[in-house]
Amino acid sequence: MRILAIESSCDETAAAVVEDGETILSSVVASQMATHGKYGGVVPELASREHLRAIVPVVREALGRSATRLSDLAAIAVTSGPGLVGSLLVGMTYAKSLSFASGVPLIAVNHIEGHIHAVILESRRDGTPVELPALALVASGGHTHLFEVNECFRYRLLGKTRDDAAGEAFDKVAKLLGFGYPGGPVIDRLAPYGDPKAVRFTFAKMKGNALDFSFSGLKTAVLRWVEARDLVGEIAARRLLANQTSVPSVEQWLEVTPKQTLDLLASFQHAVIHELLTRAAASAESCGARSVIISGGVACNSGLRAAARAGGFPWPVYFPSPGLSTDNAAMIAAAAFPKLQRREFANLDISAQANLTLAT
Ligand code: KG4
Ligand code: ZN
Repeated sequence: MRILAIESSCDETAAAVVEDGETILSSVVASQMATHGKYGGVVPELASREHLRAIVPVVREALGRSATRLSDLAAIAVTSGPGLVGSLLVGMTYAKSLSFASGVPLIAVNHIEGHIHAVILESRRDGTPVELPALALVASGGHTHLFEVNECFRYRLLGKTRDDAAGEAFDKVAKLLGFGYPGGPVIDRLAPYGDPKAVRFTFAKMKGNALDFSFSGLKTAVLRWVEARDLVGEIAARRLLANQTSVPSVEQWLEVTPKQTLDLLASFQHAVIHELLTRAAASAESCGARSVIISGGVACNSGLRAAARAGGFPWPVYFPSPGLSTDNAAMIAAAAFPKLQRREFANLDISAQANLTLAT
């Protein structure tokens, strides 16, 4: 049973064809990084325009590479939220039109559920299926959520960020220091050159739900650290490098980044990883999880992966392969598969929901 999935919730236009929820026949991702990079973050109007430009060729390529005709499809899946409403609309309108024209049923998928299913797909394909109940940490540019994942993929929200998402904190710190956008991959590559214990960050104790996150205090602490030093020259040099080179090499970054700034990056990343893993472990404990899933763009972080491996957790910890960690449509098809089995189809009048929740 083949599903064509379309994902356009943020700044990637993606389409994929996945068979039986686990075999990726094609997965095409058109990134808009070059468009948004110079603005230091995603510009919603530009994102919609880029999706409009990319949607037809991307879907065509996904169908072509997998030698799939519309009549071969069991369903067309599409991300209906959460995300930028103008971006979501492009994918949804196109998916609805395809469904209407071909008579293939439509399935609406929550983007966050997609991130969780990136891991479910790979674990099934590799013959080591995630055991449920599982604890899922989804950490990306837009979300930092902890879910209990139960049989039949029913979810319970255990904690979430009260302000910035983890990926957003990476992006804002990188922007402040002149590293361009997105910030996570650059900080990830440079953190090993600094001392993670050099700068001590403290987190305020959370009132209310102890499983909630807050990253805005950390961001402000980094800002204060920067303001207390004269970094104007090095920040200008990095901005110049980021503007002149599309993806600077580690060596190029190191030439314009003194040791104390590398120490700051390493300490910042260490603090984020500590927060993520401490709360994930406490949540897994509280819900009696049998496994832990860590997904979303931040799950690419090599420091996070190493810390989770070295953490001595009593549960197996599953990460998606890097290509399935950041936004893609294969994960949307994977999340749609159980819905196809349950014949949970969407009406063609369904609308995009910027703030769609997965569970409360
Ligand atoms: O899942 P994703 O592609 O899009 C959203 O749904 O937001 O995640 C993008 C986020 C960005 O904030 C980016 O900086 C972060 O994931 N990210 C990373 C890494 N790669 C991407 N953060 C830390 N380390 C990385 N290696
Ligand atoms: Zn995402």
